[in-house]
Amino acid sequence: MNILRLDQLIAQGKLAGQRVFIRADLNVPQDDAGRITEDTRIRASLPAIRMALAAGAAVMVTSHLGRPTEGQFKAADSLAPVALRLGELLGHPYENGVPLVSGWVDGVNVQPGQVVMLENCRLNQGEKKNDEALARKMAALCDIYVNDAFGTAHRAEGTTYGIAQFAPIACAGPLLSAEIDAISQALSAPKRPLVAIVAGSKVSSKLTILNALSAKVDGLIVGGGIANTFMLAAGLKVGKSLAEPDLLDAARAVIAAMAGRGAAVPIPVDVVCAKRFAADAEATVKAASDVDDDDLILDIGPQTSALLAEQIKSAGTIVWNGPVGVFEFEAFSHGTEAIARAIAASPAFSIAGGGDTLAAIAKYGIERDVGYISTGGGAFLEVLEGKTLPAFEILARRAQG
Ligand code: 3PG
Repeated sequence: MNILRLDQLIAQGKLAGQRVFIRADLNVPQDDAGRITEDTRIRASLPAIRMALAAGAAVMVTSHLGRPTEGQFKAADSLAPVALRLGELLGHPYENGVPLVSGWVDGVNVQPGQVVMLENCRLNQGEKKNDEALARKMAALCDIYVNDAFGTAHRAEGTTYGIAQFAPIACAGPLLSAEIDAISQALSAPKRPLVAIVAGSKVSSKLTILNALSAKVDGLIVGGGIANTFMLAAGLKVGKSLAEPDLLDAARAVIAAMAGRGAAVPIPVDVVCAKRFAADAEATVKAASDVDDDDLILDIGPQTSALLAEQIKSAGTIVWNGPVGVFEFEAFSHGTEAIARAIAASPAFSIAGGGDTLAAIAKYGIERDVGYISTGGGAFLEVLEGKTLPAFEILARRAQG
């Protein structure tokens, strides 16, 4: 995709003394006390900020955090913890936090060589609906707009779309560029076999991605509640497990599409069951054909794990979204661990994305063994589906002049 990139502007010496507005995705998980529990997105946003500072720009960086009500500030919606963490990562002179600016739409005081953080952009009236008046005001704050928020690239909001229409120059930051390059590499000319692992609680929330992948991949491994629905479609019982019986036809259509191309959706041959959903529930391994009416399937069984691990190890390219079991509970974590370790051991180019997937990668310490870890959740899935995300569409349009 032809879009202007931040490093091109820097190479042309166009940042010195300029006001640069960076839209990052710093929407990180926090605990009840507001402490950041996982800072991958903040770390991933550092290169753009550092590049702009080093090039002598006056830098403003903003993000959304959660889904606040526009115009109604609550302390829990503040980017304050993020500003603090970003400062720690940037180091001197920001070790006590990057200055946080509220009520910034009508003007921001920042000097070349400095960075400030603009408070949660979703607090501004009109952000979600991409209000034109808001977008024009934000565009007037800068000389150069940089979108580096891959995790929000599927949203056409004020700071991800509207501002890009009206800013004097609009470009992609290094994270946004790297994400699209990595996903394109995985899908446009993949080394085969291409194996996708799509897991999660519901077929309904991932049906479009399952349909899209069924036309592209050589193996489609399903997990979690999605696998339960596929087991039902294959004529197996799933007891009390999470499943969507009204989507059996959709699951059968995916199986048929794969079969029509000589590919398959592997159905579990064994599963790990419990009688209740709890960390201390007794875990029982059963053949997939032996699930009782009062069973809950909470993981794939060891035989299934071994079969899938073989398939993963001999793949050329792997796409991973979603843990295959309730990996937060030790007794039901072995399937996800086996998948994670097989991906780590595979020579294939692997790409993984989604919040739970990132948590599993961290839990098993395989960060260095995954080819590319995406910061996107919904955005990652939409790119896999083959959609052009709004953030890329507008940057491509701007690049045409
Ligand atoms: C995410 O966490 O997936 C992104 O930050 C997007 O958040 P949203 O779904 O609230 O737009």
